[in-house]
Amino acid sequence: MSKKIAFITGANRGIGFQTALDLHKAGVSVVIGSRDQKQGEQALRKLREAGEEADMLVFDVTNPSHHKAAYDYFHSRHGRLDILVNNAGIAAGGFPPVGPEHSTADVPAETLRRVFDTNFFAQVALTQTLLPLLKKSPAGRIVNLSSILASLKFHAEPGSPIYDAKSFAYDASKTALNAFTIHLAYELRGTNIKVNSAHPGWVKTDMGGDQAPMELADGSKTSVALATLPVDGPSGGFFHLDQPLPW
Ligand SMILES: NC(=O)c1ccc[n+]([C@@H]2O[C@H](COP(=O)([O-])OP(=O)(O)OC[C@H]3O[C@@H](n4cnc5c(N)ncnc54)[C@H](OP(=O)(O)O)[C@@H]3O)[C@@H](O)[C@H]2O)c1
Repeated sequence: MSKKIAFITGANRGIGFQTALDLHKAGVSVVIGSRDQKQGEQALRKLREAGEEADMLVFDVTNPSHHKAAYDYFHSRHGRLDILVNNAGIAAGGFPPVGPEHSTADVPAETLRRVFDTNFFAQVALTQTLLPLLKKSPAGRIVNLSSILASLKFHAEPGSPIYDAKSFAYDASKTALNAFTIHLAYELRGTNIKVNSAHPGWVKTDMGGDQAPMELADGSKTSVALATLPVDGPSGGFFHLDQPLPW
């Protein structure tokens, strides 16, 4: 069997890049998506220092023509895709989460739409486009980068780890993404494809900020574990490292 082929979106920096690096070191042939060509090429150079087989697509997850280009790329070169890591994502605003863009009462409709476009609608559309190639894989794996902030149970529970950390647009977009995980996993039950949501942890990245407790080197562990699940691994779950999280 030839090497597994993975596509990781938003992989020019942060958790996406670290995920690509770790999968690459584990022997997976990785293709990184980067909105910016130069940043993508820089990331690709770093990856190639760790091995040969890596490539880069200029890729904006909100651009449907890029979805089609990604399909054509994997179809023509490999005839299949083994791993899709839906990593690209945006926050509603800066950290700490204060201001109308984080508010539930005041969030502008434009902010809500922009965050849902990237974190939900684009993830669904890309996955739908690449699904025929994932179905060609003997062990397709889809990892949706969610967040503990998606958990409705924790948000409703005074004293939970995130009860006071509410940013409506971001949190709701990731809750919707979790719904996609559950529904798609149900539809793909009985196939070779596993679909799971990952909470990477609160990780030191541009999004997570310097105050995050988790180093980048550990921030990719959940994505990598779900991308390389064995045949008897779970599907339709929500995990941080190997621990299930409540929806
Ligand atoms: N860091 C945390 O503590 C944390 C916690 C829970 C969940 N997450 C999730 O983990 C994922 C990665 O987070 P991170 O901390 O690594 O974030 P980050 O450092 O802000 O990096 C985000 C990545 O997504 C890319 N991106 C954003 N919009 C895009 C678009 N429209 N098309 C393609 N790429 C796009 C960015 O590209 P550009 O460089 O072009 O902007 C960048 O490569 C996100 O989905 C995030 O919600 C992170």
